[in-house]
Amino acid sequence: MAATNSNSENVQKPSFETFQLFSSTASGFGIFDDPAQQAPSIPPPPCVEVLPSEVHSSVKHSVESVNLDGITLLKGRVNTQQVFGLSNSDLVPGKYEGGLKLWEGSLDLIKALRCDIKSGLISFGGKRVLELGCGHGLPGIFALFVGAAAVHFQDFNAEVLRCLTIPNLNSNLSNKSHPLSSNFTNCDKIDVRFYAGDWNEVDKLLPYVATHVEDNQNAGYDFILMAETVYSINSLQNLYNLIKKCLRHPDGTLYFAAKKYYFGVGGGTRRFLSVVEKDGVMASSLVAEITDGSSNVREVWRLKPKEYHPSFSCCSCLYCCWFPWNVRFYWLI
Ligand SMILES: C[S@@+](CC[C@H](N)C(=O)[O-])C[C@H]1O[C@@H](n2cnc3c(N)ncnc32)[C@H](O)[C@@H]1O
Repeated sequence: MAATNSNSENVQKPSFETFQLFSSTASGFGIFDDPAQQAPSIPPPPCVEVLPSEVHSSVKHSVESVNLDGITLLKGRVNTQQVFGLSNSDLVPGKYEGGLKLWEGSLDLIKALRCDIKSGLISFGGKRVLELGCGHGLPGIFALFVGAAAVHFQDFNAEVLRCLTIPNLNSNLSNKSHPLSSNFTNCDKIDVRFYAGDWNEVDKLLPYVATHVEDNQNAGYDFILMAETVYSINSLQNLYNLIKKCLRHPDGTLYFAAKKYYFGVGGGTRRFLSVVEKDGVMASSLVAEITDGSSNVREVWRLKPKEYHPSFSCCSCLYCCWFPWNVRFYWLI
């Protein structure tokens, strides 16, 4: 499937959303630190799987290149007005959550993943990947290029998937000059899917979540990737719950990139980590800190299940609750 309206110009300096999260325009969506005030009053859009064939070819989609220290990915660009009837700076909680813009955290995340791959810490070969809050989906696309067997993209809005994520993936896949595209030979065997919906319910659709997989041992994603998803205090708990449901235990890894603190909305890496720490079942480590002076401090974190935690058990039987993973393993032998 080819991208629509590809722009042949190689624009080297793409525009990024740098910091503004919510416009405080006359549309009335202001800046709140109080989670109660952030709660959207409208119901979230329904959870749906979006098929690649549902791409919206009527929405103009142009392409720019993004250089990431030696690799170039393509980044689509669509008009927020055309898709949602909103001006480009608007992010409307509960309606449109910023997925049409490319946020700098997604590039930080790819750079951090490349470093961890180069140092032999991780490999995507044959792995299942879930990108949460994908927007352009560049981290997920990168995972495909470096050998992932399955990449599932999630966004709040089906429109973002139809108008941007899918065309953007197509542009990157059909870009044969891409240095990584030679790694990507088996297009037909890759499991690529797209899911729209709110974090508090989208797990119902995700095929590798334990409730859908008959063999519990085979459940979960090896990697969950997310960039700039922890800005709203209101959704941190739902996001964390979703991650716990989706991550493979005990070997799955979450990578997330975000600002340390989102002024005006109160979320940020540290706020999200406080939710994680309170639960006590995952261990976190800082992978990168980016202080380029152009915006707020940005960070990339890696999280893994702590090895022996019962609340990550595969079921609630006494065996799972009493024996840590390694003890169970030896006992079975
Ligand atoms: C700021 S954008 C970041 C987009 C992209 N990751 C990037 O870095 O360019 C936040 C993303 O999280 C998704 N999102 C935010 N709140 C959500 C929620 N409650 N449920 C599901 N997705 C949500 C949005 O749809 C959007 O794609």
